[in-house]
Amino acid sequence: MGATEHPWTVSETGFDASSQHHSETVFTIGNGQHCLRGGFEEGFPGEQTAGFAHRIWDQLPVFGEELAALPRWWGVQLWAGDRPVRLDTGDVDDYRRNLDLRTGVLSRSYRWHGPQQADLALSWQRFIVAGQPSLAVIQLEVQALAPVLLWLRSGLSAAVDNAGLVHWEVAGQQVEAERVELSTRTRSSGIGLAVVAEVRCLGPSGPITATRADEPGAPSLEYRVSLAAGERLLLTKYVALASDLEASAPLPVAREQAGEAVRLGWDGLRAANDAAWAEIWAACDIEIDGDPEAQLAIRFALFQLNIAAPRFTDRASIGAKTLSGLGYRHHVFWDTEIFMLPMFSFTQPELAAGMLRYRWHGLDGARRKAAEAGRRGAQFPWEAASTGDEVTPRWIPDPDHPGRQVPVLSGDREVHVTADIGYAVWQHWQATNDQQFLLDYGAELILSGAQFWASAAVAEPDGHYHLRGVIGPDEYHEVVDDNAFTNQLASWHLHAAGALAAWLAEHQPQHWARLSAELGLNASELALWLEVAAALYVPFEPESGLIEQFAGYFDLDELPPEVQAPGRTVSWQRLLGFEEIQRTRAIKQPDVLMLAHLLPDQFSAEQLRANQDFYDLRTDHEYGSSLGPAISAAVAARVGEVELAYLHFLQAARTDLADVRGNADDGIHGAAAGGLWQAVVFGFAGFELTADGWRIRPQLPRQWRRLVINLTVRGRRERIEIPRP
Ligand code: BGC
Repeated sequence: MGATEHPWTVSETGFDASSQHHSETVFTIGNGQHCLRGGFEEGFPGEQTAGFAHRIWDQLPVFGEELAALPRWWGVQLWAGDRPVRLDTGDVDDYRRNLDLRTGVLSRSYRWHGPQQADLALSWQRFIVAGQPSLAVIQLEVQALAPVLLWLRSGLSAAVDNAGLVHWEVAGQQVEAERVELSTRTRSSGIGLAVVAEVRCLGPSGPITATRADEPGAPSLEYRVSLAAGERLLLTKYVALASDLEASAPLPVAREQAGEAVRLGWDGLRAANDAAWAEIWAACDIEIDGDPEAQLAIRFALFQLNIAAPRFTDRASIGAKTLSGLGYRHHVFWDTEIFMLPMFSFTQPELAAGMLRYRWHGLDGARRKAAEAGRRGAQFPWEAASTGDEVTPRWIPDPDHPGRQVPVLSGDREVHVTADIGYAVWQHWQATNDQQFLLDYGAELILSGAQFWASAAVAEPDGHYHLRGVIGPDEYHEVVDDNAFTNQLASWHLHAAGALAAWLAEHQPQHWARLSAELGLNASELALWLEVAAALYVPFEPESGLIEQFAGYFDLDELPPEVQAPGRTVSWQRLLGFEEIQRTRAIKQPDVLMLAHLLPDQFSAEQLRANQDFYDLRTDHEYGSSLGPAISAAVAARVGEVELAYLHFLQAARTDLADVRGNADDGIHGAAAGGLWQAVVFGFAGFELTADGWRIRPQLPRQWRRLVINLTVRGRRERIEIPRP
């Protein structure tokens, strides 16, 4: 997939049913409010076509909450005579599917040959209108290549589920003239959603009149038309969605918007959509000359991040698998703040601010979590959904032993997420200089997180503070003491919070007086922050310059030979088992190197090189975490190992387009996409902020002739052009 020379188009020139779910993920479209996987309007056996919208959470067992798959708004079924027209019901040729990343328009065409000389050319197009929250439009053009009697049905259906779990009940439906309406309500969270479709069908001699087909839960319109050879039919479906999260009476809102869409028509909607996309691309496009694969991959990553980022609410953020699949039940992890957010802070800061405000709205939940663990301040959940409360499952099914369960410890132990959020707020502030954001939201996030760290770290007789029994970014090792990433980032967080408190006290005394009173901060707690920050133990080997990933890591066995077996298709953890891998130095994703990526100033050049040489070799780049390769690329570029950096970069670039891990069915790997941007900007371009601006130290891969990056730094648009020297 995507093996095209075209710099803006992901294309598929043949359909392979065995990889249909991968294609559905890749061809996801959206507008920052709702997304739709790339499945077919006319359907296909076994499809997992699904749409998801921000904030439409519903409860489920074990995983807490997930976004309810939206009622089926995209369906357009057709029959030639009495035969359904689908890719599996006739002979197909000239098949082609294109996703135009520049405009978000997904198009597909094929010729279909059925029994009794039925012969059709079909051409589909759809897009979810950018720049406004609720509209989508679909167009089907059918040309008869031989005389045919066509039936079409288009409408809405509540008969959808999330992998078997039904989230909707029908609250009302109606078919009137050319309009179909469906009102639904989520079963446990009680969110009301109205969907309205206006359908127009134009035959060779003018509009075709519809008949109503008002089946329970599936209101639709039907059309019957005879076409002579060469004649065409054009069906356009305008869809609007509105929920009672935004409007007290969503049905009239959706009705009004669908009507407005009809007035604008396909061309009017395209013009509005294309203009909104042009603005997005002006803010964030990256041009890579000389490497078509890299060019397409970075634009694909930017596209997927841009359609998933909440543009119409600050009560949502981007889940680990975006809005493009069921993976991780749409929960929000550190993936957002550490991997995806930098792209937004440096290109569309208002979107980054919105996602950080989502964390701010979640502070009550984070405070509850801290309090339950006997800590102060805010401990952010490892997985978050509608609130800031923890939704990490306590167990998941064991992939190797059906019927058995594997405990999931991250919710209790993967505490670094609190520092990750503090880091993202600080980085956003540095990137934007947005003082208002800092005062209104950012400061409270940073200070509340610092309160957690100071109360979580334990002073021991060795004179150090320790964080024991945690999980670091490398999840192959669970329940470790003094994970270097966690401790050093927590220490950084405490220092940053101390500096912020001092700055607020000096420059915003009133604000500081109010905030410190609200958070119950006093001088002794601030002094404790600095004490803990200075004394948090980070295992370090001075002779080699190596940071030890956690206390005792260097005592573990080296990687056993079987992990080096060529042609493997599973992770080292699957090969060795959950228990055995913990006895080895095999790591799932960069942990110490991740730290170097976030805090480069805390590593000398020699130290960075030593740690890079040591840890890169021990990382499961192929089948460990998808979060790793892009960061490995950025770090390798920083130490000047550009060829190695490029190999890691390609691994990240192919995560979803080439499905190199075999799990793209579940949705886009948002962190890999965000990491790819960082590999280009922080890695190959060597971009960094300075006190009075920014600088670059480029290390371009051999084949890159020119790199152009668009950023917004401290309120200024920057177009940074880096030619090959
Ligand atoms: C990774 C985590 C990540 C999560 C969600 C896990 O496999 O180890 O770092 O946050 O997936 O993407």
